[in-house]
Amino acid sequence: VGHIDDVQELRKAKPTTIPERFVRDRTERPVPATTLSQSSSIPIIDFSKLIKGNKEEFHNEILQLAAACEEWGFFQVINHGVDLNLLESIDKTAMEFFMLPLEEKQKYPMAPGTIQGYGQAFVFSEDQKLDWCNMFALGIEPQYIRNPKLWPKRPANFSETVELYSKEARKLCQNLLKYIAISLGLKGDVFEKLFGVAVQAIRMNYYPPCSRPDLVLGLSPHSDGSALTVLQQRKGYSVGLQILKDEKWVPVQPIPDALVINIGDSIEVLTNGKYKSVEHRAVTHKEKDRLSIVTFYAPSYDVEIGPMQELVDENNPCKYRRYNHGEYSKHYVTNKLQGKRTLDFAK
Ligand code: SIN
Ligand code: FE2
Repeated sequence: VGHIDDVQELRKAKPTTIPERFVRDRTERPVPATTLSQSSSIPIIDFSKLIKGNKEEFHNEILQLAAACEEWGFFQVINHGVDLNLLESIDKTAMEFFMLPLEEKQKYPMAPGTIQGYGQAFVFSEDQKLDWCNMFALGIEPQYIRNPKLWPKRPANFSETVELYSKEARKLCQNLLKYIAISLGLKGDVFEKLFGVAVQAIRMNYYPPCSRPDLVLGLSPHSDGSALTVLQQRKGYSVGLQILKDEKWVPVQPIPDALVINIGDSIEVLTNGKYKSVEHRAVTHKEKDRLSIVTFYAPSYDVEIGPMQELVDENNPCKYRRYNHGEYSKHYVTNKLQGKRTLDFAK
């Protein structure tokens, strides 16, 4: 990605110019926010009821969780137990990183076909449209996926904050997967046992304002290649995330201090499509910028996955083949984001 494709630089130099490579085909353009469905919104799960609720509260919340995963594939989790100061510091440190001079950020370039470092991920051809977004991503766990050269030296507390936040996000994913298993009528530890030492990655997305939000996308439509994704959005800035529900784009109105969780492709496959990995995208705003911090949690690369026996029967015939998760992951990062098409790999 050259100087001119870096959206922050572009915005600085020519605030009202949208280069052709960012202008979407008519069918892909965002519809005006006022015409979007405002009546429906993604479900809310109260994590404290799962962790320390009484029997009835727990049971009720598990039912809510099952409905959220089945009908939406997305929910917001409140009372999630992640230290709110830590959420604030990860936002702050990520913003400080994005505000560094381009030369500093480019010390950590994203290599093609990987999603680690600074740049535009998922770009493979000259005629592919670009997203109005700058990304910085790192592999977190297991340790061997880390590339120490890509961990920024500035801002000074960057690595430490990412480390602390990632530990909390990992715990949350592990707990949520336990409750998701229970909501399927399975033993709480099925995913933990199956996943081995789970792969975890973090991606920071910075969306500068855009003079023509009607022409561009912040992030192309896609489903996540993970098992579970945790999304943190910096407070008080523009609404940007939209999910595809019944063929309509539904904006996700962030609840202050909540985290957005979504089901990734691995859980869709493991549950034989009962829980859905839902297509989503990000849009931009004319005056406001936006920051999101995404944690991906997935099975270990050596794990073989396919629909779980318990979820396949005469009424629910097997919808996906068995495959190695590492191969899927490679397939995912070496293809452009294209709605749910990445999951064709499993068919
Ligand atoms: C993502 O899907 O990775 C992030 C979308 C967002 O910025 O909300
Ligand atoms: Fe995503």
